[in-house]
Amino acid sequence: MDSISTINEFRGKVDIVDVISRYIPLKQRGKNFFGVCPFHDDTNPSMSVSREKQIYRCFSCGASGNVFNFVMDYEHVSFPESLRIVAEKAGIEWNGITVSKKNNKNEKYYELYELAHKYYQNNMNSSYAKKAKEYLLNRKITEEMIIKYKIGFSLDRLDHLTKLLLSKGYDLTTLNDFGLTNFDKDVYMNRIIFPLYDLEGRVVGFSGRRYDGKKENKYVNTKGTPIFQKGDILYNYHEAREFARSKNQIIVMEGFMAVIRSKEAGIHNAVGLMGTAMTKEQSKLIRRLSENVVVCFDGDEPGRKACLDNGLELEKLGCQVSVVQLEDGLDPDDYILKFGEESFRNLVKNAITLSDYRIKVLKKNIDLSSDLEKSEYIQSVLVETSKIEDEIHREFILKKLANEFNISYNTLEKRLLSLLNQKELDTKKQKRNEFIVVEKNKEKKDKYDLAAYALLYYMLVDKRCLNYYNEGKINFPREEERFLASEISYYDQKYGIITPADFYTYLENNDKLKKVLNDVLALNLDQQVDDMVILDYINVLKEYQKNQERNRLEKLMKQENDVMKQAEIALKIALLKENRNEKLGS
Ligand code: CTP
Ligand code: MN
Repeated sequence: MDSISTINEFRGKVDIVDVISRYIPLKQRGKNFFGVCPFHDDTNPSMSVSREKQIYRCFSCGASGNVFNFVMDYEHVSFPESLRIVAEKAGIEWNGITVSKKNNKNEKYYELYELAHKYYQNNMNSSYAKKAKEYLLNRKITEEMIIKYKIGFSLDRLDHLTKLLLSKGYDLTTLNDFGLTNFDKDVYMNRIIFPLYDLEGRVVGFSGRRYDGKKENKYVNTKGTPIFQKGDILYNYHEAREFARSKNQIIVMEGFMAVIRSKEAGIHNAVGLMGTAMTKEQSKLIRRLSENVVVCFDGDEPGRKACLDNGLELEKLGCQVSVVQLEDGLDPDDYILKFGEESFRNLVKNAITLSDYRIKVLKKNIDLSSDLEKSEYIQSVLVETSKIEDEIHREFILKKLANEFNISYNTLEKRLLSLLNQKELDTKKQKRNEFIVVEKNKEKKDKYDLAAYALLYYMLVDKRCLNYYNEGKINFPREEERFLASEISYYDQKYGIITPADFYTYLENNDKLKKVLNDVLALNLDQQVDDMVILDYINVLKEYQKNQERNRLEKLMKQENDVMKQAEIALKIALLKENRNEKLGS
């Protein structure tokens, strides 16, 4: 068996729906599954994944391919690497051709970080770390936790680590560029060192905490480097990933202490932003983990603001957001230590929807003596309520509102209904716009393109059509169509059965033909086709060919001065016209 056959066999064991749903949440609608496309900025579920065809396609940006294409584009990896990842995700052994180990250009910098990390961890065992350890134990970070979370310590020296790394042969420029040294000095002096990980779980930075009780520069983080950008990572992402998927919920917190403490409390699906600011990249990462997001920020003003702002951003990405609001002055770490793990788990379980949270915040801020403020408040509450899916939940809010402000339930309900109608109108409008985009894409093709693409598709899925091609009955107008057709024919002779999904693998190194294949599959034709339909398309292409020939002859005639030759050409044109209605199969 050659490598293509081996890969096809492997792909046949994998379910694309299973693999893609590990990256983005998918919902089944009819035969296909839909999700938000990760390859362009979007909030609508415009990506469809077909279990039957084992391919995906985004109706909006056109991204499409088989399971390997998805992983390559999503993880930015090579084809062999995508095989390894798919094998891992699908839990299927990949025993075909040997897949080369990740040949990452950053490998040596990861090693550098590992070395520095080991160094910090070792320091934690030295007598110099006595006070730091006392501090940690004091705040209930136990010996076991120090080991488990790989917490280290930087000595109170100017250049201990710098010298060590230089002695290992690293040059100072590299060390500086990668944030491990500060000119010829250490970055961290006398701090507790927390490792920071990239999305794959490699240590790519550190956060050093002072432990002398002073507030200034409480944390010092590794600067931005080629392998570390604070805004591109989430603390604990690599470990939370699986838990978030199986729970279908992700919890977002401010810092790594909150995440570490939550993990100790049995909550494994939490990630940390490292502050209250959330970048666009981070919000997308969160959305990829799950569409059900719980935001749990510190119980202070910035934390409350972060709930509203970040919550809104996540909502825009299509997340269902709920909120855990901690009491004043507490973060999850403090809360768990004060009230216990069980109590915190209950808080998370009872997180309120972002809408309810907004209503609560709105209420806090109104002046009850002002009618204007009161009616503004009521209107805002109704707007929030219109976003709530659950009818009973909506009714509860209306009843409460009616009682509280002594307004008739009917008035409120009428208002709410008109808001709901407006919302429905908006979604309808949006759906229509999406439809128009799809239709426009279809329109761009003239009937000859359509015929050519349809025939290419049937060549993939229908032997009869392939035979017509092999018998020389199909002439494709364009070069790339001819190339693709000959590849299909060749593939069929060599491997027998063709499936569009496997054909993607075969075209791996040919972006041009892959694009044609994308367009062909975008037509979304049925696999079952009547012979008449195939013959009709073949005739359309014949007609095209004749038109081309006629145009050529007419042009030739205009250029011709010799009367005899002109007559000859005229005869040919007349013959072409005569044959016009003579169709294949009739
Ligand atoms: N942070 C930071 N620099 C600071 C303060 C905070 O980078 N000067 C980041 C850290 O990643 C921290 C997160 O913001 O984890 C949350 O900050 P904060 O709530 O102040 O820290 P805690 O996680 O509560 O840490 P501790 O309990 O040790 O004070
Ligand atoms: Mn804290």
